[in-house]
Amino acid sequence: MKKRIFAAAGLAMIVVLAMAGMAYATLSGLSDSEIEARVKDLVSKMTLDEKIEQMHGSAKPANIIRGSFMSGIWDTAENKRLGIPALKCIDGPRGVGMKGATAFPVGMSRGASWNPELEKRIGEAMGYETRAMGANILLAPCINILRHPSWGRAQESYGEDPLVLGTLGSAFVVGTQKHVMACSKHYIANNIEGSRFSVNAVIDERTMREVYLPHFKMTVDAGVASVMSSYNDVNGFLAGQNQHIITDILKNEMGFKGFVISDWQNATDNTLLAANAGMDIEMPTGAHLGAPLKKAVEEGTVSQAVIDAAVTRILREKLSFITPDFSKGYDKSKVGGKEHAELAREAEQEGAVLLKNDNGALPLDKGKLKSILVLGKLADTPNTGDNGSSDVPASYVITPLAGIKAKLSQAGVPAPQVKVIYNNGADLESAKAAAKGADAVIIVAGMTSKDEREGGYGTGDRLNLNLHADEEKLIQAVAPETGRLIVIMEAGAAVLIENWMNDADAIVMAWYPGMEGGNALADLLFGEVNFSGKLPITFGKTLDQYPPFDIKAKEVKMEYFLGYRWFDHNNAEPRFPFGYGLSYTTYQYKNLKLDKKKVGKSGAVIASVDVTNTGNMAGEEIVELYVGYNGSKVERAKKDLRGFTRVALKPGETKTVSLPVKAESLAYYDVGSKSWVVEEIEYSVMVGPSSADKDLGLKGSFKVSGI
Ligand code: GLC
Repeated sequence: MKKRIFAAAGLAMIVVLAMAGMAYATLSGLSDSEIEARVKDLVSKMTLDEKIEQMHGSAKPANIIRGSFMSGIWDTAENKRLGIPALKCIDGPRGVGMKGATAFPVGMSRGASWNPELEKRIGEAMGYETRAMGANILLAPCINILRHPSWGRAQESYGEDPLVLGTLGSAFVVGTQKHVMACSKHYIANNIEGSRFSVNAVIDERTMREVYLPHFKMTVDAGVASVMSSYNDVNGFLAGQNQHIITDILKNEMGFKGFVISDWQNATDNTLLAANAGMDIEMPTGAHLGAPLKKAVEEGTVSQAVIDAAVTRILREKLSFITPDFSKGYDKSKVGGKEHAELAREAEQEGAVLLKNDNGALPLDKGKLKSILVLGKLADTPNTGDNGSSDVPASYVITPLAGIKAKLSQAGVPAPQVKVIYNNGADLESAKAAAKGADAVIIVAGMTSKDEREGGYGTGDRLNLNLHADEEKLIQAVAPETGRLIVIMEAGAAVLIENWMNDADAIVMAWYPGMEGGNALADLLFGEVNFSGKLPITFGKTLDQYPPFDIKAKEVKMEYFLGYRWFDHNNAEPRFPFGYGLSYTTYQYKNLKLDKKKVGKSGAVIASVDVTNTGNMAGEEIVELYVGYNGSKVERAKKDLRGFTRVALKPGETKTVSLPVKAESLAYYDVGSKSWVVEEIEYSVMVGPSSADKDLGLKGSFKVSGI
């Protein structure tokens, strides 16, 4: 049964549908059984040519330039005779890849919000814009787990933990699919750009199930219409031609009912392998699933049943989602308009992470400061991230400098207004002199699409995780000249800060903050909004703390331990742990209670904890729950995130937060029996504000036994 909710359906509609025996409806309003009947009828009427036409993009091979990306709509053919609409794809995932769309903060920033409700609204906004612009499928979310911060597309992902990825990814899918189809990508193990077209990701069956697949499964359960294969090989076969991961796992084991679509250029290279593995649509051309597929069917090397199965999947989603006059009533002025821009601002307010704040450096008090020096090229550069397929050509971008200036020119600022001086930092002496006279110095430093981006053929990845040498020098040179140095970093993943972190009084991780980023950062810097974001990835101290990363690698073993689990496993102390983030207030955690000491394998334990805002500013705290395994038969992570939530607290306020832990979420994948095993052992529960052991002082435990 599909888990989709009709666009305009409120609770009443769902109740009516449930009463009619249809718990869920589709965008088209057709029931599952109506769709299956119509699909069957259409397939029976289609010629082989018409079927194959459904299975590939309409771009001509000659028009495709390897390694170049064009923003716009990519389509498959429309079948006028039978009234089957074309598939019209637009890129995500930081916004719709069309001129004038809303550029949201990148996925990593939204990962740092740990807020599925917000992510659902973002998905909904992007879905709306996609439909208003005439497309019917958004090529997002990107839910590749981050194995290494060097990955050039790290910014598109939500981080290094399957639960965060799956929770945010499925929220995004539900939001997007109120308007158009979504597409979970890139299936699977796409985590190097340099050799993305050729690297063989070696993943054992357990690691695949526990680390690389849970988040894909969560989006499948949320009803995602399509899944995009990755370019790399998985265990010796191109992911797009890999029967084991496409048919055995995605379609059969996970029960995925939608269609699999190939990534865009080299994701298939063999007609027989691709078709027989279960690839449903080749994009953007029919190089392998076009004319050569017809020949293969005629020669009997690909069966008619394979074709019918693929076409059935494609038509099922088209009939579920695409209605005649699909974009009618969708208001183009909402694309990149005020409402979505405000949402983009809210997203960055929740996604920026306060990493350090000594001596009350932040928030800045605009009533007290006389002058602020803003330093660094990036302060004055629109910088929304990669310029590859995830690029969003927004109509404007508020830079950090523009955001700070706008904040200080607003009405109500006590005279004399704060003076904002800008210096690009290229000349150290002039930067130092300017810093001497300023009450606060804000340096914006970090990466751009020149440093990290979508690539291939040896390009794209960020091999040096430090800030640029000139930026580090600028920080070090200016620090002695000021008592208040704030460093704002822009990047898609971790930055190594050992060389200068002691020079800065405050450090903010802004990621790529979207078109409203400057405004959101100003809201946070001046304390109008409290920081609440927490790292969805681990920030190491040195590069060698991370697993090996080679952009020319022909083969990479995908480790079971990844992210904080890797750091824990190697007893490596990170600079900032997964789940870490400060705010302008303080929180106290007390009274961890588990509702039972023993639970059956199909049951759940509810953990509850009292969280108090002990400071004097309202805020939102992300509460994290980890489990550990006592006496497991197999090697386990020291701790696994198994629950999280955001809680809003006024100063002095206490709330009891409940986090359920399902026993089945504690299972490991047993390769021998090919099944999930929930062990009858003792599990420890740790709750706190980050994954650091010192933050997880509240502990409990329970046993699993019986059914
Ligand atoms: C790519 C990307 C993919 C994108 C597609 C279409 O090469 O890997 O994420 O959706 O092209 O632009």
